[in-house]
Amino acid sequence: MSTTTISTNTSQRDSRKKVTTLTFRQKKERGEPITMLTAYDYPTAMAMDNAGIDSILVGDSLAMVVLGYENTLPVTMEEMLHHARAVARGAKSALLVGDMPFMSYQVSVEEALRNAGRFLQQGGMDAIKLEGGRERADAVRAIANAGIPVMGHLGLTPQSVHQLGGFRAQGKTASAAKRLLEDAQILEEAGAFSLVLEAVPAKLAEYISKHISIPTIGIGAGTGCDGQVLVTHDLLGLFDRFTPKFVRKYANLHETMNHAFTEYINEVGAKHFPAVEHTIEMSEEEWEAFQKEVK
Ligand code: KIV
Repeated sequence: MSTTTISTNTSQRDSRKKVTTLTFRQKKERGEPITMLTAYDYPTAMAMDNAGIDSILVGDSLAMVVLGYENTLPVTMEEMLHHARAVARGAKSALLVGDMPFMSYQVSVEEALRNAGRFLQQGGMDAIKLEGGRERADAVRAIANAGIPVMGHLGLTPQSVHQLGGFRAQGKTASAAKRLLEDAQILEEAGAFSLVLEAVPAKLAEYISKHISIPTIGIGAGTGCDGQVLVTHDLLGLFDRFTPKFVRKYANLHETMNHAFTEYINEVGAKHFPAVEHTIEMSEEEWEAFQKEVK
């Protein structure tokens, strides 16, 4: 890595002001879309922070796109904290949000508060996210009252995949839509600073966004939200198992990686790698001396 690259990156990073929950609110007021992506490691967090992302979510999607599980349920607090720390080392300006994993906040309000605190104390995060509406109001209130910014998550809540009968869109009937709106209002009242709306009809997401004062971050919820989030491995085409309908692939890194690995294997096989420029020289004089030593 050249020193020029390091100094360019450092000055870019230093020139950007830290994004806070206040920035989120101001962006909503100005009608400027908030940008958010997931990250789970240091280099990715650094790249998106340098690109100017507003917020980075260390999502429990980690379970699926990095750890290879079928759904998000198996990932633990320890695993989430391990990846949160890596992201925190890479991103200095974006608002960092740690995603509370399954069973880290459902058992009791006390446990929810303690685990939320760990994301800030041990994970280097600025805020936490948790899934659910009215049934989580007490936990949201307790965490927010402790000074920890809370992001809600409504609609398709992947930790309830078994209860929802699969990864399917939510809020498509009049009664489900009304319940979603009420949940959004309850989370706002409980002290959430923002909320994710996942896989809900675009017109409902827009209606909710206009009827609450906190910013909504949509994923599969149309342009009427106050911001957008995507799972980075989907955006980069790194996660090949399936691609949700609402994803736009901005790259196809799975294919790029496959190509690079195949080429490497072929070149090593054919002894085309390493080439002269990758090898370390030894002077003839030293080589002759060595040969005399070992005779
Ligand atoms: O875990 C995650 O990546 C998420 C996003 C889909 C919002 O919750």
